[in-house]
Amino acid sequence: MLDSRDKKLLIQSLRGEIFDTPPCWLMRQAGRYLPEYQQLRKKAKGFIDFCLTPELASQATLQPLNRFDLDAAIVFSDILLLPYALGQKVEFKENIGPVLDPIRTPGDIVSLSVERLSGITAPVYETIEIVKSKLPAKVALIGFAGAPWTVATYMIEGGTSRSFDRTKVFALQYPNDFQKLLDILVSATVVYLLDQIKAGAEVIQLFDSWAGVVPDICRESWIIKPTAKIISAVRRQFPEVPIIGFPRGIGVSYPEYVKETGVNGISLDQMFPLEKAAEMLQSKVTIQGALDPHILMIGGEQLRLEVQRQLQMLNKGAYIFNLGHGILPQTPPEHVEQLLSYIKP
Ligand code: CP3
Repeated sequence: MLDSRDKKLLIQSLRGEIFDTPPCWLMRQAGRYLPEYQQLRKKAKGFIDFCLTPELASQATLQPLNRFDLDAAIVFSDILLLPYALGQKVEFKENIGPVLDPIRTPGDIVSLSVERLSGITAPVYETIEIVKSKLPAKVALIGFAGAPWTVATYMIEGGTSRSFDRTKVFALQYPNDFQKLLDILVSATVVYLLDQIKAGAEVIQLFDSWAGVVPDICRESWIIKPTAKIISAVRRQFPEVPIIGFPRGIGVSYPEYVKETGVNGISLDQMFPLEKAAEMLQSKVTIQGALDPHILMIGGEQLRLEVQRQLQMLNKGAYIFNLGHGILPQTPPEHVEQLLSYIKP
């Protein structure tokens, strides 16, 4: 029996189908590069308030769809809503970024509470319901969460980091406590994703933006196992919902990640050679990626040539066009228009 999911190219692609023109969406497709987002953003005081106001978050989710012929919407929210919902203090400061009251000692983990999660994240599910009721039939709705490692780095560093010294030292010095933190994040993420799916999310993406800084000997316990646990728990309840992993920067470990986690799609970063991706991964998994966001920022002939190269390399197998990382705020929105004209002639 056909259901509405069968009309959506993104979902079909994640089931392994190949198209002449691949489906396309862009990481961070909603946000500051759109003037209408800047306007809307003024209507809430803090960024967390903005994310937790369904009326605003649903409009932000739909803004890129109102302009561009994209194949997916991604619910407007943030990966740091999860530590916030677990009881950690999280703020987004203008021109600085996220600032969290950091975990410094094993004792700081004790106060995190998975029980309070759903009460706090309820507005996200409402956003999903509103967006779902307004989306064109061909557009898939993506729900998401950060992967435990990446979320843990923000929780321990207290914000963005260059070297991740505090997180690595904490994880190596207190391996049992770090594991406890990852376990809490796994449980919370499972609840959060299941609730997003119940509200209407049709695809899930797990953002592991800092996977690339994990030492080889720690990858299994910090990245692979927690991710695999989340995926198997979500699949147990919703086997039909495809899951995309984005373990940015893991290089030669992409095949191991794909095999051990069981993702349906792998979102590649722009550092990984496309010919290797086609050769090593595409027979096993749908490839999403991996245009350099700076090339989108520049636009024009360089963009056209690079889009052509990406299509030549990847469009022989199951493939979703995307960026290797999120859209940069300085990107002129017209360049997204250009990009789509190059993909969908
Ligand atoms: O269209 C979309 O994808 C919007 C939804 C979305 C946001 N953040 C909105 C946002 C998604 C999927 C994210 C994911 C996210 N958030 C990641 C993983 C992807 C990646 O880029 O690596 C990470 C690491 C974060 C954490 C985060 N959120 C940081 C470090 C910052 C500050 C720096 C920055 O990039 O802006 C944010 C803030 C944030 N999240 C903004 C938006 C639109 C900007 C804040 C604002 O508008 O006031």
